[in-house]
Amino acid sequence: SRTPVTITITGAGGQIGYALLFRIASGAMLGPDTTVRLRLLEIPQGLRAAEGAALELQDSAFPLLSHVEITDDPAVAFRGANVALLVGARPRTAGMERGDLLEANGGIFGPQGRAINEHAADDVRVVVVGNPANTNALIAAANAPDVPKDRFTALTRLDHNRALGQLAAAVETPVGDIRGITIWGNHSATQFPDVAHATAAGDPVPALLAARLGGVDAAREWLDGTFIPRVAKRGAEIIEVRGSSSVASAASATIDHVRDWVLGTGERGWTSAALWSNGEYGVAEGVISSFPVTSEGGAWKVVEGLSVDEFARPRIDASVAELVDEREAVRALGLI
Ligand code: NAI
Repeated sequence: SRTPVTITITGAGGQIGYALLFRIASGAMLGPDTTVRLRLLEIPQGLRAAEGAALELQDSAFPLLSHVEITDDPAVAFRGANVALLVGARPRTAGMERGDLLEANGGIFGPQGRAINEHAADDVRVVVVGNPANTNALIAAANAPDVPKDRFTALTRLDHNRALGQLAAAVETPVGDIRGITIWGNHSATQFPDVAHATAAGDPVPALLAARLGGVDAAREWLDGTFIPRVAKRGAEIIEVRGSSSVASAASATIDHVRDWVLGTGERGWTSAALWSNGEYGVAEGVISSFPVTSEGGAWKVVEGLSVDEFARPRIDASVAELVDEREAVRALGLI
C-alpha cells in the first residue's frame, strides 16, 4: 500500500542492523507492494554508524523506502511503530554474572517496553533479537501492560533454520522439502530442536534416519550426540569459523519471522517462534517460549495436538525450567 508501514529497528547501527535494513527496504520482509518507513534507534555512540547506513540506503534508491529517521530517543523511535525489531542489547562481557546481564538488559528492555506501550501503533508487533532474547521480550511485555501479550515475540527462527539446514543435509533432501520441525524453549544452549514429526518430501524423518543410521537407537544417538548440539551450539561454531558472530543468517531469520507473522505461513506448514506461553504443551504460563506455530490473519497460533514422547518431554522441560529461572531472576531484580 502507499501508506507506509512504520518499522522501528533498535541497534540499527550494529552488525545485524546493517544486514537487516537493506533487505527490509528491498521488500523482502513485507512484500513488494508495501512501502516502508524506517526508524533507527541507537544509543549516542551508535548514531554515526546508523547515519552511515542511512546514507547507503539513500544510495540504494529502493522504490519502497519512503523515510529513514535516526534517533536516540525511544519515544521518537517507537511513535506509530507497526513493527518493532529489538536488536540492540547489552552483550555478556568477561566475568559478567547472569544477574548482571539480566539487569543491564532490563535497563534497555524495560524503557523500550514502556515506550512501545505509550507510542506504538495499536497493531504493533514486536520481535526481540537481542540476547537473552526470550527474557528480554518478557521484560518488554511486562512493561507494556496495554499491549496484548501475544504481540511480544522472541526470535528462534534462526535456530529453526539451522535445524532445517542440518536435517536437509543429513537426509539429503532439499531444505524446501522438509516440514514439521520445531524448536522448543529458550534461544540458548538448552533449546530442543525436535524432529519427531518432521517429514522430508512427505516421508517421516525418524524412519529415514533409522534406515540411514542402522536403527531407531542409532538415530536417537545421532539426534542426541550430533544434531541437537550442532544446532544449539551453531552460534559458537560460526564465531569459531568466521571469526565473527552470526549476522546475515540472524537478519535473514528475522525477516522470515516477521514475513510469516504478517503475511501468513500458508502452505509451508508450521515454523518456530517464541511466544507468550498460555500453558500449551505443559510449558509454564507467562514465559516467552519457543513453540511450533502457524500464522494466519496476522496472528501466531500454537500448533495443537502434537504428541510429545519420552525423548522430547525432559528436553522441553529442561529448557522451560531455564526460562522460569530467568523469569524469577528478573522478578527478583524488580524488572517485571
Ligand atoms: P552489535 O554489537 O553489532 O550491534 C548492537 C547495536 O545495538 C550496537 O550498535 C549498539 O550501539 C546498539 N545498542 C545497544 N544498546 C542499545 C539501546 N539501548 N538502544 C538502541 N541501540 C542499542 O551486535 P549484533 O551482532 O548486531 O547483535 C545484536 C544482538 O543480537 C546481540 O544481543 C546478539 O547476541 C543477538 N543475536 C540474536 C540471535 C537470535 O537468534 N536471537 C542471533 C544472533 C545475534
